[in-house]
Parts: sequence; C-alpha cells; structure tokens
Amino acid sequence: MLPFLPALALLLAAALPARADTLARIASPGDVLAVTLESQHEGRIAYRVERKGQAVIAPSRLGFLLGDGRLERNVELVGQSSSSFDETWEQPWGERRLTRNHYNELRASFEEKAGAGRDYPRRFDVVFRVYDDGIGFRYEFPRQAAMPQARIRAELTEFTLARPATAWWIPAFEWNREEYLYQRTPLKEIGTAQTPLTLRDDSGLHISIHEAALVDYAGMNLARGDGDVLRAALTPGGDGVAVVRTLPFNTPWRTIQIGEKAADLAESSLILNLNEPNAIGDVSWFTPAKYVGVWWSLHLETETWATGPKHGATTENTKRYIDFAAANGFRGVLVEGWNPGWDGNWFADGGGFDFTRPTADFDLPALARYGAGKGVHLIGHHETACAVSHYERQLPAALALYARNGVDVVKTGYVCDAGDIQRQDEAGGPVRREWHEGQWMSNHHLRVLRQAAARHIAINSHEPIKDTGLRRTYPNWVSREGARGMEFAAWGNPPNPPEHEATLAFTRMLAGPMDFTPGIVSLKGRNGQPLRSTLAKQLALYVVLYSPIQMVADLPEHYAQHPDAFQFIKDVAVDWEESHVLDGEVGEYVTFARKARGSGEWFLGSVGDDHPHALDTPLSFLDPGRRYRAEIYRDGDGANWRDNPFAFARETREVGNGDRITLKLAPGGGAAIRFVPLD
Ligand code: NOJ
Ligand code: CA
Repeated sequence: MLPFLPALALLLAAALPARADTLARIASPGDVLAVTLESQHEGRIAYRVERKGQAVIAPSRLGFLLGDGRLERNVELVGQSSSSFDETWEQPWGERRLTRNHYNELRASFEEKAGAGRDYPRRFDVVFRVYDDGIGFRYEFPRQAAMPQARIRAELTEFTLARPATAWWIPAFEWNREEYLYQRTPLKEIGTAQTPLTLRDDSGLHISIHEAALVDYAGMNLARGDGDVLRAALTPGGDGVAVVRTLPFNTPWRTIQIGEKAADLAESSLILNLNEPNAIGDVSWFTPAKYVGVWWSLHLETETWATGPKHGATTENTKRYIDFAAANGFRGVLVEGWNPGWDGNWFADGGGFDFTRPTADFDLPALARYGAGKGVHLIGHHETACAVSHYERQLPAALALYARNGVDVVKTGYVCDAGDIQRQDEAGGPVRREWHEGQWMSNHHLRVLRQAAARHIAINSHEPIKDTGLRRTYPNWVSREGARGMEFAAWGNPPNPPEHEATLAFTRMLAGPMDFTPGIVSLKGRNGQPLRSTLAKQLALYVVLYSPIQMVADLPEHYAQHPDAFQFIKDVAVDWEESHVLDGEVGEYVTFARKARGSGEWFLGSVGDDHPHALDTPLSFLDPGRRYRAEIYRDGDGANWRDNPFAFARETREVGNGDRITLKLAPGGGAAIRFVPLD
C-alpha cells in the first residue's frame, strides 16, 4: 500500500483549495474596514474586505487577460509600502462645499515568476485606498521594457460577496443603454449589470460597487459568475480589444462603498475623493442655476424639433421662454431643434447635423442679445445621434459660435442604440462602431470637456458615459443623464413607477449629479398619460435628485395654473453648503436635507413609493440656536397619484433644531420644505 500514498496525497492536494497566504493587510483610519491581500494556489492573488471583523467581500481574484496571455497565475509579491492621507478640499459647486479625504493606502508590487511561459516577467502594482466608508483599488502598470503596450482583452477583477444579498441593478449591453428600470433581485439572479450596483447583504449591510476616474479606459460592468462571484466585464472596443494603453498607465479605481444604512451610501464622498483635483483651473464662470426650455413640448409632440409649422425653436417662441425665465428668476433657456439636421429620421442618421449655424427661423445672435438684456443665457444643445466623429470635426466652430453668444452651458446627446456610436478616424475613412462606455468614448467626452473649458462652457451630457466623479477634475462636467429621466413620464412604456426616484437616490445618484428634469406640475405626459406622482413630489425632486443645473421642465402655461407649487420651484436652491440623507430605504423612500450656499436657508425633500409613509423626522440638521420659518409643501389629505394627484397643501410653521416633523407621503407622493432663518 505504502508506495501509493504519495500519489493519493498529490491527488488530494489538487482537489482541495490550498491554504491562502496573507501577503499584506491595511485597515481604514477609524479601523472600520480592512483589506487583506493573499496569495492563493498556483500563485494567484486575491483581496478580501472585512467591516468591523465581519467578512463583506470574500477572497476575490485580481488579474487580466492581455493580448500576450493571461496575467493571473505565478504572480509574486516583490514589495509593499503603506501611507496615510488626510485633507479637506473644496468643491467650486456641489452637494457639499467641503469634503474630507481621509484614507490609508497600501501599495503592493507584483511580478510574474520566471518560467511563466515567456522570457520576461510582467510587473504591476495594486494600490488600495481604504476609507471608513469604502475602499478603492486600482492596477498601476509601471514602464517596463518588455511590455511597451498593454492590450487588455478582459479584466479578471472579482467582487465576491461574502453573504447572500439583494441587488438593485440595470442590465448592461442592452440596446437602451442606461435607460432601464432598476430590477430588485437576489444577487444570484444578476446577469450582467451596470455600475453603480447596489446590494444589501443578509446581515443588513449596504454595498455599492462602482468605479472612479474612468479615463482612457473601458467602462466596467459586472457579470455574475459561479455563485455569488461578480467579475469585471469591460466594455469592448470597436476592434475587439477592450483597452489599448501605452505603459505606464493606471486603471480606473474599482470602488466598494460599505455602510450600515442605505443613507450611508448616499452620504459617501468616496467616488469624488478618488478623482484627481481640478485640472482646468478657475470655474467661477460657471453659475449653478435653474433653466427652462423648448423641451417638454417636444416630448409631448405639441411642438417639433424638425422645422415646419410646429417647429419649437423659433425666435418668437424662444422669446416667450426668455420672458418667462426672466420674470421668475431662472438663468437659462435650453433650445432643442435650433440647428439643421432634425428634419427626417435624425436618430437613424446624425450625419446631417450642422452645429455651426441655426435654422432660418431661429435668430441666435438676436435671441442672445434679447436674453442678455434680461439676465438670461441661452443653453446650447448638441444632439449627435451618435455621429460622434462628425460632431467632433465641427466642435471648435460649434463651441466658438456658442461662446460668442454668451452660451455657457451645452447639453450634448448621444441617442442611438448601444454599440452604435460612429467613429471615423479620418474624414472619408471607414466608419467603425463603438459602445457608449468604451475606451474611445471615455476619451471623446474628455476631448469635448477640454475644448469646452477653454471657452468657459459647461457640459451636460445625455446618453452619456457613466459618471465616475470626473467633475472633481473637470468641474465643467456639471451634469448628465444616464438613467431613465422625466422624458419617460412623457412617453415611457412603461412610464417611471412611483418608487423610481427613491431607487435612483441609492443607485444611479451614487455616481453623481443627474439632469433628471423635474417639475412637471401638470402631472401629464403625452396624450394625457398620468405621471406616477403627486404634485408635492414634483417639488421634492429638486432636493432629492442633486444637479447644479435643474430644469424647470414643464410649460410656462402649466406653471401659471399652479402658482403655490411654482413658488417652491422659484425658491429652491441649486448649490449646497452641505447635504445629508436623513433616512431612506432603497426603492421605498428617501429624505434629504441640504443647506443652500450663501443664504443660510435649508431645504428638505422626501419622496416615497406606491405606499403611504409617515416619517417622523428630527430637524436636528438645522443650525443650533436659530429659528426658521418652515414653508411646507405636502400631499393634501386623500392625495394619491392614481386618482387624486393634485391634492396639495402649503402651510408655514416656526421651528428650530430641537423640533420634529412628521412627513406624510401619499402613494406616489412627496414633501418639500424651505426653512428660512428668522434672524
Ligand atoms: C434624449 C434626451 O434625453 C432628451 O432630453 C432630448 O430631448 C432628446 N434626446 C433629443 O436630443
Ligand atoms: Ca435620454
């Protein structure tokens, strides 16, 4: 028997996972989170994450599929160092003015062992930044003679949840890009999800997986593998390789936010903190503001983008909007359909768009002058319909035209099916197709931002690449879409459900500001389709869904019918000293309190789902020692989005920070409060 034993032992060793060796460990400044790096069998490396000693992320592998082979096995730790960082930095505009960036960092340097099947060892570092409310890590490829360029076919980064979890997610690689309703399923039922992906594990911890600083790289989605493993699924490039980079380079940060409550996710500044500081200098030329526009009428189909009898972007009609904006203190007027290219089937062919001249019935310079006389700026619109190279060729002249006319915010658009972006590297050359979130588009957006910044123009992208916090580095990237916005209330099939915004607050909004375009006080979409919302909820959205530019999206004549509600929209701030999530559950309800910059006023917004809520809310966020007049806009008795959406009450009351208030939300309802200091 004896001679057989070694063979048996070998067999057993192959079948059982070998012991993992700890390579390094780093904890967050407050010792809340800890990351451990370990080496697994066959020299694979993995990381795991604990929160207060409890496993949150089980051992999860790191690595790549490169053009010259898998970079994953036979990897050896050749050095490590750690450091600490603590600074408070200021946002030029934002949901809060001051942000603390406090983390411990671990840098681990790896090298392939000799004999890995090639005559040179490839080298890379993994850098972890560990905060009390989450972690970020990225791969850094130093310059190395044997690998001048990396062709990344896939990233093998894993995120393995230690426990079963519930997930809120939208699918990746589907035709309508990010404009899907969030599904709530067990983690085990995720297919391939976009990020941010929100999870709640069965111990109640809330977790969000996303990325920060997506620059010159492919966007990361998450594909579910065996069991609870989620693996990075990079967006492909037009030529089949996801990323091509010359060394040295860094990947974006892979981020995992972890908190006890849903509110902790929405309070975290992890994504912004992991981005580089402002690279474009002073942006005091950008003014956070509200805007109106020739827009909702287009979605209602009472006016058209195309020229003709129903053309919305006429000189006369735009003057009407400028007058309305001036009369009510709104700075911007967006005009869509102002340029040639909209006649015919524009979404099938953006090649006809001309961004350098208006249509004959739209006198751009005259309107710019007319607005300037009243303190109103036109907001530009560049719908590309995905003819992106065609757009880029016109970009310098297009931005110059706008800059000459005082336009300092431009809304861009990339309407086409996912994967159908048209890239043409030289005029007349072959047209290649790219994804909205591929490496080429990540660079396209930065080309637009840099050229716009040089002319003091801010950008609001629709059908964008996802937000990864680049507004810190490029603070002229002020807002974007990247989810189902209000347009789905006009014509969505199905329309946005009552819980949509309470879901967005803990999913899409974790990435950054959204140009949701709230304020549809008529509560009706195309052909009278009802919004799944009460009147009070439309007001609450201005506080709940952060953006430094907020549209006052309904028609002027509709606001005239609701002067009480309209007063809140006129009063609400758009730029904040601080922001807090008072309470909330993903997809059920959420309450925000935000303090306006400059004025000392506070605003509260709360939105719910299809059920009534009575939320006992302490006002302890108010400045101590001050008294406030609370102007309360709430659902009236018996309000319900289905059959009584306009039931609405406005009342005032004097309060201080020791008081409490019960927010009664109707089905599909909300509440909005302005707190005016009395001193
Ligand atoms: C989709 C955008 O989200 C919407 O706001 C815009 O009106 C249309 N595209 C046309 O550009
Ligand atoms: Ca859209």
